[in-house]
Amino acid sequence: MTPDVTTDSGQEAADSADLARRTRDGVLRRVEERLRSLLAGEHDVWAGVHERAAVPVDALSQLIASGGKRVRPAFCATGYLAAGGDPDTPGIVSACAALEMLHVSALVHDDVLDDSSRRRGAPTVHAAHAQLHVSRGWQGEARRYGEGVALLVGDLALVYAETLMAEAPRSVVPEWNRLRSEVMIGQYMDVHAAAEFSANPRISRLIARIKSGRYTIHRPLVVGASAAGRDDLAAAFEEFGEAVGEAFQLRDDLLDAFGDSADTGKPTGLDLTQHKMTLLLGWAMQRDERIHSLITEPGHTPDEVRRRLADTGVPGDVEKHIAGLVERGCKAIADAPVEDVWRKELADMAVRVAYRTT
Ligand code: IPE
Ligand code: IPE
Ligand code: MG
Ligand code: MG
Repeated sequence: MTPDVTTDSGQEAADSADLARRTRDGVLRRVEERLRSLLAGEHDVWAGVHERAAVPVDALSQLIASGGKRVRPAFCATGYLAAGGDPDTPGIVSACAALEMLHVSALVHDDVLDDSSRRRGAPTVHAAHAQLHVSRGWQGEARRYGEGVALLVGDLALVYAETLMAEAPRSVVPEWNRLRSEVMIGQYMDVHAAAEFSANPRISRLIARIKSGRYTIHRPLVVGASAAGRDDLAAAFEEFGEAVGEAFQLRDDLLDAFGDSADTGKPTGLDLTQHKMTLLLGWAMQRDERIHSLITEPGHTPDEVRRRLADTGVPGDVEKHIAGLVERGCKAIADAPVEDVWRKELADMAVRVAYRTT
C-alpha cells in the first residue's frame, strides 16, 4: 500500500506542535517553582526576624497560589523558544518569573486604584487587610490601613521582579526598562481618563495598549526574543503584540461589563461604576448620549446600564474589532523568521487570549 503522504506530514506537524508545547510547559513549570522558591526563601528570612514581618511576602504567595493564567510568562517563553533559545538555560525561567511578579505588583496596585474587592477569586490585598483592621478593632482608618498595606505589598513584588530579572541575560534590559515604566504611565492614563470621563475612542485604544497589551504580549515576546539574542524578531513581535495585546484588553473590558465574576474571579461591572473610559463605553457614549448620565448620576442599577450598552450594538462592534486585531496579529507573523510550529502556536495563543472566558 502507498503511504498516505498528507496524513504523514499532518502527523509530523502534530508531533512537532506537541513537542514544542511540552518544551514550553517544562519552562513554565520551572517558572512556578522559581516563584515559589523565591517567596519561600523570603518568608523564612522575614519570619526569622518577626512573625509579622512575613505577612507582605505571604500576601504575594497567596495571590500567586490563587491562580492566574500566566499569560506573560507564556508569551515570554514562546518568544524565546520561537527565537531558538535553549530551554535548559535558567535565565529564561527568571525572566518569565519576573514578568509574572511585575504583573502581580500591577494587580495589587490596580485593585487599589479601581477600588476592587476581589482578585483571582479571593479578596484583594487592600480589602483583606482593611477587613482585618475592622475585625481586630485597630486604631486609625481601616480603608487607609488596607490601601497602605497594598501599596507596600505591590512595591515588594516590584522589588522581587527586579531581583528575578537581574538573573536573566543582560540583553533583556532595554525592553524590561520600557515595559515597566510603560505600565505605570498607562495606569495613569487610565485613571485620568476615568476622572475626565469624556468619550475619546482613540485614547481608549491607546490606553488598552499601554496599560495592558504591551506588558502582557508585545514586550514579553520581545524580552523572550532578546534573551535568545534575536533582536531581529522585535519588529514582527511588536506588530503581533500591539494588535493581539489590544484584543486581550478589549476582551477583558467586555468580560468586565458582561462576564460572570464566578469565571473571572473579579467583580462584574466595576469599569462602569468606576467610569472607566474603555473603547466599549467610549463608542457607546458617542452613540447614545444618555449613557453618560446613566453612569455618572446615582440611582441607576448596573443592569440598566448594561442593557442600554447592549442596545447601542457596540458590544458587537467591539467583537468585530477584536476579530480584526487577531487577523492583523496573525498576518504580522506570517513571514517572521520562526519555525512554522511556533507561528502556528502564536496564532493559537492570539485566539486564546482574544476569546478567553476568564
Ligand atoms: C488582568 O490580567 C489585568 C489586565 C491587564 C487585564 P490577566 O487577565 O492576565 O489576569 P490573571 O493573571 O489571569 O489573573
Ligand atoms: C489593569 O487593567 C491593568 C494592569 C493591572 C496594569 P484592568 O483594571 O482592566 O484590569 P482588571 O480588570 O482589574 O484585571
Ligand atoms: Mg482593574
Ligand atoms: Mg478590566
